Amino acid sequence: MTSHKIILLSGDGIGPEISMVTKKVLETLSQIFSFSISLEEKPFGGSSIELTNNPLPEETLESCKNSDAVLLAAIGDPKYDNLARELRPESGLLRLRSELGLFSNIRPVKIREALIDSSSLKKEIIRNVDLIVVRELTGGIYFGQPKGRINTEEGGERAFNTMTYSQFEIDRIAKIAFELAEKRRKKVCSIDKANVLDVSQFWRERVTNIGNKYTDIELSHQYVDNAAMQLVRQPEQFDVILTGNLFGDIISDEAAMLTGSIGMLPSASLGARNPGVFEPVHGSAPDIAGKNIANPIAMILSAAMMLKIALKEEKAAEALEKAIDNTLAKGFRTVDLISNPSQQECGCREIGELIIQEIKSLE
Ligand code: IPM
Ligand code: MN
Repeated sequence: MTSHKIILLSGDGIGPEISMVTKKVLETLSQIFSFSISLEEKPFGGSSIELTNNPLPEETLESCKNSDAVLLAAIGDPKYDNLARELRPESGLLRLRSELGLFSNIRPVKIREALIDSSSLKKEIIRNVDLIVVRELTGGIYFGQPKGRINTEEGGERAFNTMTYSQFEIDRIAKIAFELAEKRRKKVCSIDKANVLDVSQFWRERVTNIGNKYTDIELSHQYVDNAAMQLVRQPEQFDVILTGNLFGDIISDEAAMLTGSIGMLPSASLGARNPGVFEPVHGSAPDIAGKNIANPIAMILSAAMMLKIALKEEKAAEALEKAIDNTLAKGFRTVDLISNPSQQECGCREIGELIIQEIKSLE
């Protein structure tokens, strides 16, 4: 029996409740599809700050490096806003991505038939949406030096970050996007701000250069402001969206809403060597934490990506996707997805149980 060693980082806010549900779903799948899975929980984010004063303790990082995959829920809480930046939960997440070399963040945005009415956009606009955001994850303005705050000579403070990309960083993420497009509708749209930023001009040149080797792929470029507008005007035009760290962060939240709720969007963060991190695109939603109303589906779908990409348990991943679709098709919804009175509102745990029932009935 194949055995998979997973590190589970539940983190903060709704993290623990959606993790609990996802864990049960994975345990059910392991019984049905005959693999063994161990999910070892480690401190991370705000909950780890409480225990160790460090959002990413060395022990957690080492365990992640020695695992087959990392499954992460969400981190962050406004109560840590006043801590020094390096002690905040977000810094732990950025360090985890950087230490594991996870330069490519894959965020698929697919409309689920049952949720067509849940989007804030008209059905006709979103019906055929099937796109992937490929976001560069370990470079750009998130990591660029110099950064910080200084007191100026003329008095008053100044704060700064640096948006920077090296050739190798652009080339390797561009290749990921082109290779993904090869298996899809063969279109890559690269998003930048080349009309203003030098770093974007360079990004565009490198992407064009790499694109020349993929002769069957149609490459286009959009400025990020235009892309933000195109995503709500005519989202079906996109197949693979390739972009840097900051623009990718913003664009992927926007793209998430095409699906009806940010509670639906999974992601995979991958590198060349170390295990990948699989995590929902949404945050820790501290305002609804502990109320059993969070939507666990983005995390469950992240687990499906983990099963497929990292653990090669394709059959289990497919069953899970199907079970989610069946559950939604029967009208069960967490509150974020409710679009009409005929749908039945369920809590976080309840929707998890329904998905488990569906998995069992697929056998
Ligand atoms: C995301 C999140 C993170 C990011 C935060 C929590 C640091 O918004 O994964 O999209 O900005 O990358
Ligand atoms: Mn984000």
